Amino acid sequence: MPDREEVDAGSGASGCQAGVAVAPRVVRGAEDTPRPSALDRAQRWRALGLRGATVWCTGLPASGKSTLAARVEERLIAAGRPAYVLDGDSVRKGLCCDLGFERAERDENVRRVGETACLFADAGVISLVALVSPFRDQRRQVRDLHERAGLCFLEVWLNTPVQECAQRDPKGLYRLAHAGGLRGLTGVDDPYEPPVAPDLEIARCSPAQASDAVLALLGQP
Ligand SMILES: Nc1ncnc2c1ncn2[C@@H]1O[C@H](COP(=O)(O)OP(=O)(O)OP(=O)(O)O)[C@@H](O)[C@H]1O
Ligand SMILES: [Mg+2]
Repeated sequence: MPDREEVDAGSGASGCQAGVAVAPRVVRGAEDTPRPSALDRAQRWRALGLRGATVWCTGLPASGKSTLAARVEERLIAAGRPAYVLDGDSVRKGLCCDLGFERAERDENVRRVGETACLFADAGVISLVALVSPFRDQRRQVRDLHERAGLCFLEVWLNTPVQECAQRDPKGLYRLAHAGGLRGLTGVDDPYEPPVAPDLEIARCSPAQASDAVLALLGQP
């Protein structure tokens, strides 16, 4: 990543793969990192007819985050809107495969996904994040990151009671934790801090009803 001086020093030079002389300008993205680009966000979104955003689904394990994110993604794509699920399970196999479940590593997991979502939103994509993200300050930091960058961030709380999550338990994690075979499971022996003012709270409704509510929040049909 170039530092400020490198970017500013190059701002008078031309740089375009198509061979057209374009003077790169400094565009501030996530975390105020200067980014050389011939486009600013408004131009990009206007030209592509897009508007990026992040929908951040938080909740206990098995509360329904991935189910909801996948449904919303499917409906947005069907409507011709670029959308992409950033799911806790898949990011831990790639982007965050070096991280464990200690507090600092959980924080880093959330931070990386937050930064990625920010870049996607800047590009015009709607990210559907499905991540337990158990701590308020983690989620606050990701919201701040988006707000500083002028990007829409919507926190959606899957408020499913822990007893129901433990009954669903499609991965067997609650059973394993209750049998003493897994330590540090959120909702069992690790805390979950519920959002104080989520943009949307999902409780006692079907995935279809929940996805309707998210699409309404996004202003989508
Ligand atoms: N609204 C709902 N009503 C009833 N069951 C649901 C609902 N949403 C999801 N489920 C079911 O609950 C289970 C857990 O859902 P899902 O995998 O989406 O949870 P999750 O929050 O992503 O969990 P994890 O944090 O472990 O990834 C699945 O079997 C899913 O089919
Ligand atoms: Mg999931």
